Order: sequence, then C-alpha cells, then structure tokens
Amino acid sequence: MSAALSKSCDPDSAVFCRWGSHAAEMIRSSFDVRIDSMEQFNQGAEKKKEVRFIDLFCGIGGFRYAAMDAFAALGVTGRCVFSSDIDKFAAKSYEANFHEAPVGDITKVREGDIPDFDLLLAGFPCQAFSICGLQKGFEDETRGTLFFDIARILKEKRPAAFVLENVKNLTSHDGGRTFQTILRVLTEELGYFVDCRVLNALDFGLPQKRERILIIGAKKAFSMDWAFDVREKRSLAELLEKQVDRKHYASEEIVKSRKAAHTAKTSPAIWHENKSGSISSYPYSCALRAKASYNYLLVDGERRLTPREMLRLQGFPDEFQITVSDTQARKQAGNAIPVPMAAYVMERFLPLALL
Ligand SMILES: C[S@@+](CC[C@H](N)C(=O)[O-])C[C@H]1O[C@@H](n2cnc3c(N)ncnc32)[C@H](O)[C@@H]1O
Repeated sequence: MSAALSKSCDPDSAVFCRWGSHAAEMIRSSFDVRIDSMEQFNQGAEKKKEVRFIDLFCGIGGFRYAAMDAFAALGVTGRCVFSSDIDKFAAKSYEANFHEAPVGDITKVREGDIPDFDLLLAGFPCQAFSICGLQKGFEDETRGTLFFDIARILKEKRPAAFVLENVKNLTSHDGGRTFQTILRVLTEELGYFVDCRVLNALDFGLPQKRERILIIGAKKAFSMDWAFDVREKRSLAELLEKQVDRKHYASEEIVKSRKAAHTAKTSPAIWHENKSGSISSYPYSCALRAKASYNYLLVDGERRLTPREMLRLQGFPDEFQITVSDTQARKQAGNAIPVPMAAYVMERFLPLALL
C-alpha cells in the first residue's frame, strides 16, 4: 500500500488535506459534511452495524465516551473488545464506570492475544526515541516506547482506522524527530493514510484552553475536513459546583496574597499562577494537568477546582462515578482527553474510514 503523508506536514496549517483536488475540496466544504458523512455512514451501516474498538492507555475512558457519542450520532453500535491502562487507580475508575477491568501494562500484552477490532484509540504518553546505529524500521527505532506498542498492534491486527491523541508539544519534541518518526512509521511502514491537527478544547464548547494533537489514520485514502461547527457550548459558570466543601478552599493567607496581587475582570474566573508567581485570570481554565492543577488554578482566587468540576472541564458526563480519592480523581481528570473534541473528530472521520 502506498504511503500517503505529505512531506510538508504542518498540523497547524489551515490547509492540510492531501487527497482530492482543490476544486473537489471547495465543493465538498460548501456542504454540511457532518450530515453527508452521517448519511453515507448509515448506508454503510446496513452492511456494518457494529464497530469493534480497542481503548489503549484508556485512563478513565475519555476516548470511550467520545466514541460512544460519535457512534450514537452515526446510528451504529460500538463494542469495546479490549482496554488497557497500567495505573491501578485509573483502572479502578474505568471499571466502576464501564464495568470492564482494563488489562495492565500494554508492553506485556502480545499483539496476537488482542481480539480483532476495527478501530484503535490511544492517548499515549510522549517519549523520545533513542535512535542509535543502523535503523531497521520502527522495531529498532521506537522499541521501548509506548508508540512502539501501538505500531506493533497496528501491524499485527490491521484495523481499518485509528485515532491517536497526544500533547501539542509532540510536534516539536526532540526537534520534531519524534513526530516525524511516528508519521513515517504509520504511513511508510504500516501503510496507513494519515492526517493530523492540533485542536483546542475551547473550540469544542469547553471552557478550558487545552491544545492536543489528534492523529487519524485509515487503510483507505480519505480527506478530512477539520472545520467544525460546534453548537453546544458550556460556560464556566454553568459547570462550577454550587455547594463546595470547605476542604477545597485555599488558606486565608493564600487568598489574601492572591487578591492583593491581582484583580479579575470577570467572575467566575479561573486564576492561574505561573511559575514566576504572576497571576492572570480568564473566564476559562488553562490546561488541566495530571499533577499541578490542584495548586496553580484557583476559582476566583479562592478555591481549587473540585474533581467533578475538572471532569466537567474535560466534557465528562455527570454520570461518571468518582470512586477514588480527590488526589487520584484530579490526576485522572488532568490526564483525560476532552470528550467533545474527540467525539466531533470521530463523528466526522469514522464514516470516511470504516466504509
Ligand atoms: C494521557 S493518559 C490517557 C488518558 C485517557 N485518554 C483518558 O481520557 O482518560 C495516558 C495513560 O497511559 C497509561 N499508561 C502509561 N504507561 C502504560 C503502559 N505501559 N501500559 C498501559 N497504560 C499505560 C497511564 O496510566 C495513563 O492513564
């Protein structure tokens, strides 16, 4: 199969389509692609009503919620046939909510032992590849990294499509070499058609500035339109809890010093203190993190976000049950993928990839 990656791979570029002529793209983009795609997919769904997927590095299931939303919008059923996460607390939360216990360390799972599936989902940790000596392909170049595990599973199982997520910095990591290696492996070595884009949760109706790269791939050629018409928007005021336990409030001294140093233009606002101690505030949160969010973000300069608020900032439904400590729940929420961002991408992409 021919590799399909353009050499001028710029995920921030507004024009990042490589297949189909410019004219075809203009005609296509003048229609509501989401509706077209749904109709096309629903016709195909008569042939294929169920999409089997695997949820790698599943965390607390942000990708899974997104997939379920996309499947529901497309009128198909989805079935998760395998999930994996090494973190026992994340696995506990996942099991409590999806009633399936994820397998642990993916590096210990033989690819042949994974059931057949159509779609691979993975928000994988970003790691440098230590490339040494003669490179004999991804098995030498990426071994020991978690991308290697994604690649070996794709190679063995040949699913129709995948959606990968990572931090925006993946594109500049190790001078861009990490990202170029990933794209080359997916296209040239594994033969997938690939596209990617850096997206921001703020553009998907969530009051959180969180930029993530989404990498989509399919066995067949496709042309993705990355412009989304997002109608459902949630304000910060809407998702803040009304009754908040005292334990979430900062000490009087902290509140006093913050308020002496900063005056917010809006309320509610999330006050953000950077490493040098300078404070800014916005009617949205800056990116939640797995570790530090607890201390560096304060609602109106007074209190930390609750775990539920953090989950809402990632687009998780309130049905999501929190069964771990506040510390673990915050870490899990900080690690998650913004659900609507992934859902919009999948709703658009799956019809292009799975027919
Ligand atoms: C960025 S988070 C993904 C979060 C997920 N997308 C969500 O919405 O919750 C990466 C996850 O990879 C998991 N992980 C790291 N190393 C792993 C390994 N060797 N095997 C399985 N999971 C691993 C971490 O525990 C973490 O939950």
